[in-house]
Amino acid sequence: MPDLFKFLKKKEKSSSFEGTAPKHVAFILDGNGRWAQKRLLPRKAGHKAGAETLEKILTACRESGVRTATVYAFSTENWKRTDDEVAALISLLDVYLDTILKRHEAENTRVRFLGDNSPFPDEIRAKIKHVEDVTKEHFYNLNVCLNYGGRAEICHAVNILSEKGVKEAAEKDISAELYTAPTGDPDIIIRTGGEHRLSNFLLWQASYAELFFTDTLWPDFTKEELFDIFAKFSKTNRRYGGYDDKTENKGGITSGVTE
Ligand code: FPP
Repeated sequence: MPDLFKFLKKKEKSSSFEGTAPKHVAFILDGNGRWAQKRLLPRKAGHKAGAETLEKILTACRESGVRTATVYAFSTENWKRTDDEVAALISLLDVYLDTILKRHEAENTRVRFLGDNSPFPDEIRAKIKHVEDVTKEHFYNLNVCLNYGGRAEICHAVNILSEKGVKEAAEKDISAELYTAPTGDPDIIIRTGGEHRLSNFLLWQASYAELFFTDTLWPDFTKEELFDIFAKFSKTNRRYGGYDDKTENKGGITSGVTE
């Protein structure tokens, strides 16, 4: 096959995938620091490149029919990083909030920030609230997990139930008090950067999620790789512990979903 023809065929294949996209995809954006180190750049350059990749991947998600994306932007453990790196991440968040305000109509995306944002500066918290308010009528969902930890989220939910006087909580009661309650559990969780663990991300919600791990560092993650994962997901048979003779996955899980 002539090279040009091969190239065009590859391009054609990579711009979509066969099957149904998941409804809700969650991402652990790992590998920004190593991406920068490989280029002899400061770690914050890796986070900046990571933020650019995030925008491209979120666009690809919307275009392929994913309604909800949840991203792990800043964990409860990330405060242990140097002051310089934490400041760089907060400043990227600030820029990202402005970008959302400029583009939210075109992107038709409702943005929610999940986690305890009380340690962030007041101006950032005010912007977060503003972004959540102005985007609340949009169709797609973006959950940005910020100062988020899965165990802390479960404790938070249990404490709310206890304040409400619930003595014997059912699973659905806990799901209803998680930060993710409005958008439910993810169908798949993708972790870049080569590690095979959840690192305290969506611990409750991951129960039936398909987990995908790739060695690709987050800034290098492409929509072609995303679509390869969606194609694999589409072929999985999710039985949720029961028996189902369907061979094709239709996407979507309803636990906790209220919309
Ligand atoms: C993990 O890579 C990534 C983070 C701690 C931050 C992720 C943040 C972004 C992609 C920035 C943009 C997001 C928003 C919403 C502003 P790492 O630093 O742990 O990488 P390493 O494992 O190679 O050190």
